[in-house]
Amino acid sequence: MRPTQLFLSVVLFAIALKSTRAVREIECEVFDHTYGTPDTRFGREVGTEYGADALLAAAEPGGRGYDFILLEVESFLANGRSFVIATTNRSQILVNADYLQTFPGNSTDEFTGIVYFTSGLVWERTGNGTAPAGLMTGIAVYMRLTSGWEYKGWPRRGSGLRWDEGYAITANFLEDCGGLRLGFASFLIAMMLISLRSYSGSLWMNCGWTIS
Ligand SMILES: *[C@@H]1O[C@H](CO)[C@@H](O)[C@H](O)[C@H]1NC(C)=O
Ligand SMILES: *[C@@H]1O[C@H](CO)[C@@H](O)[C@H](O)[C@H]1NC(C)=O
Ligand SMILES: *[C@@H]1O[C@H](CO)[C@@H](O)[C@H](O)[C@H]1NC(C)=O
Repeated sequence: MRPTQLFLSVVLFAIALKSTRAVREIECEVFDHTYGTPDTRFGREVGTEYGADALLAAAEPGGRGYDFILLEVESFLANGRSFVIATTNRSQILVNADYLQTFPGNSTDEFTGIVYFTSGLVWERTGNGTAPAGLMTGIAVYMRLTSGWEYKGWPRRGSGLRWDEGYAITANFLEDCGGLRLGFASFLIAMMLISLRSYSGSLWMNCGWTIS
């Protein structure tokens, strides 16, 4: 961080249930690095306090052992990053303020959706890094979608070439599976959550599906 940069931060704590049923604390911290830039939509329409609330609400402490989550909002353009909506690195989330600034809809809702998606990536198990990347982004979108933060600009149902293309394509696939077979997607997510050692296509066969 440049020393001249102003920022606002909010820290929240929550007591959360872990899969072992042990009670533990998670700390969430949100930094607004656009603070001091006049009239950013993040500052005006979202704010760090709302950001920290959303981050805690989206936390799935059963998934991984993190006890500290950091979310930072900054201009990717000003920091020389390529234009993407957000990035994650372990338990750190970086959200692109430029994306929110020009988002053609409600920026608070979109920010919340981004928090649910990136929290999915932060918390979900990866089968020790062996699960297909498309499945991981698909589960993260699925978590956003089932938490009620769908965005109309997503690809339409039935588009896409492969079930594991990732993002909304895979999320739609998971949702369709859930519709056909009650609880399928939640079952799969549960399998992924517990699958610490490695991902295997045979997870799907447990649900009566064969995936190639
Ligand atoms: C992820 O964060 C760690 C420190 O927490 C850092 O060393 C590493 O370079 C980061 N990776 C990327 C791709 O930014
Ligand atoms: C965005 O939507 C929320 C409800 O999800 C609403 O409270 C808020 O006022 C909306 N913001 C704007 C700028 O319309
Ligand atoms: C995870 O993968 C690494 C190699 O990538 C291996 O050394 C480690 O034993 C694996 N952990 C488990 C729990 O299987």
